Amino acid sequence: MCGIFGCICSSAPRVIADGLKRLEYRGYDSVGIAVISGGRLLLEKDKGMIDPFVRRVDPSRISAEIGIGHTRWATHGAPCKENAHPHLDCTGTIAVAHNGVLENFLEIKEGLLKRGHRFASNTDTEVIPHLIEEGIRDGLSLKSATARAAKMIKGAMAIAVLSSALPDSIVCMKRESPLAIGIGKKGAYCASDVPALLPYTDMIMQLQDDQVAVISRGQVAVETIAGKPVKPRFIKIEWEAGVAEKGGYPHFMLKEMHEQPIAMRSTLKLPHGFLDRASRMMEGRVYLTGSGTSYHACLASSYAFSKMLCMDIRPVYSSEFQDLVCDLEGNTVIGVSQSGETADTLSALRYAKSRGAKVIGITNTLASSITSLSDTYICTQGGPEIGVAATKTFLTQLIALDQLMLRAGLNAGRLPEGVASGLLASLNGVPSLAEGVIRRSEGIRPIAQKYSSRRSAYFLARGINVATAMEGALKLKELSYMHAEGYPAGESKHGPISLVEGDFLCVFVAPRDSSRGRVIGNMMEMKARGARIFAVVTEGDDELKSIADDTFEVPPVPEFLNPVVCTIPLQAFAYYVAVLRGLDPDKPRNLAKSVTVL
Ligand code: M6R
Repeated sequence: MCGIFGCICSSAPRVIADGLKRLEYRGYDSVGIAVISGGRLLLEKDKGMIDPFVRRVDPSRISAEIGIGHTRWATHGAPCKENAHPHLDCTGTIAVAHNGVLENFLEIKEGLLKRGHRFASNTDTEVIPHLIEEGIRDGLSLKSATARAAKMIKGAMAIAVLSSALPDSIVCMKRESPLAIGIGKKGAYCASDVPALLPYTDMIMQLQDDQVAVISRGQVAVETIAGKPVKPRFIKIEWEAGVAEKGGYPHFMLKEMHEQPIAMRSTLKLPHGFLDRASRMMEGRVYLTGSGTSYHACLASSYAFSKMLCMDIRPVYSSEFQDLVCDLEGNTVIGVSQSGETADTLSALRYAKSRGAKVIGITNTLASSITSLSDTYICTQGGPEIGVAATKTFLTQLIALDQLMLRAGLNAGRLPEGVASGLLASLNGVPSLAEGVIRRSEGIRPIAQKYSSRRSAYFLARGINVATAMEGALKLKELSYMHAEGYPAGESKHGPISLVEGDFLCVFVAPRDSSRGRVIGNMMEMKARGARIFAVVTEGDDELKSIADDTFEVPPVPEFLNPVVCTIPLQAFAYYVAVLRGLDPDKPRNLAKSVTVL
């Protein structure tokens, strides 16, 4: 977690504050900036979110052309002013902003304390400026001292280092946690992710693991921490900065839900070469892995592969992968991640690779750790997603996985051409159908109003829509803090039904598909015990409309596409419940957009 932003440009403090605002979704429990002003290092930091900090500090009044900033999601040490980044060395001339978790900081700290260093926080990060201080004292440059510190430290670290002794450069280092560098006409920048850089430049490079970079105006010099020079590779990022702003919607989440049709259309334009290469790489046993919403995309896809191609593909939570999967040599793992930086997913993929599996990455972030690690990748075209809730990235993941499934079916001879082209036509048509669903999704608001004070809800379905139900439950709980559980409807009678009594909310995903009859049976069981039923049903399904208390209709689509149209009303339900409860759906408590810790 945590966001780092650094820059060398005019009005640096204001630019840093702006950059941190764009990174706020990565964590928002404390904030700080360090700049060099009049030859001296100036530090401002505090507990809390960026807006009150900016109002209090007013960065625009500070004259500086270089600086670094940090927005924090606490791992070591409570969210308080002392633990906010940047952290300083004993001389107060070196400042470090860090994203990641250091594993051996306690033993390093012990040594530093014995050697007389004074610590001001409880963070793991603070050992870094002190180690760099020692390097400088030993006659090393800032870059070499940073590299030496990185060699001593175990764990994930993306850092930006500022020193008043080197007032025109920022030194960066990366391991596991992400760090992007951008060079623009007006300055040089570094940030934890690409959208934060887009207002200033579209020429971006991702620092790779164990590389250190020295950024100065108009240039960047990169080498490994072992001192081997590396040629910086910049790529042009096509996203527009404006795309990452709210565009008139009250929340990023709502804006991003409305962007889903465009995002899906863009994902449908994926170059065939990428899909073909990925599908031909799917050899041996195939596993799908991801976390949170991305895991739900994996789950839906495993049903689609089974139903359409009679191919068993095993979905595995990334956080459980190493404990569950051992047979990897010659097999294939598909890692799905919006950010391409989720630590659980990265760790599962590294493990798979180290045991001889081929890795296919499906991510929304072209220059990400997962794309670098993968043997081949497919880049979904969701564009930047700022809201913590994964919305358009979920639907684009489904679209990418569906395309991969159809391509794999054709290549493996499991899908006749005629059938595949019919299914592809349906897939191409789904963004327009989704557009209609989104247009009507405000109709969910009164339903959300009716149930917004409930304490708990079950989300139920069978077949591929178990993934949809689980996704609906995740959205509701993460945004509205209402307890919600998604599971296969047939499982109710094995335990969960004991909770059901008068007025208990059961949300059913029940489009017309091969499981509808059995779902109706499960609905009746819940109804008989007094549950209130809100069901997502196919247009014109009068039978279900007469059974459920509330319904939302979606257009008929082939079974494998139901998760696309049925997820939208559940996103809207979670969004409106959160808003009606007075919560900010873009920034749910205790969460961050990119989960870069294990
Ligand atoms: O970037 P990723 O797709 O790897 O992120 C995975 C999860 O952290 C993410 O989907 C999370 O569950 C969302 N907050 C759900 O809305």
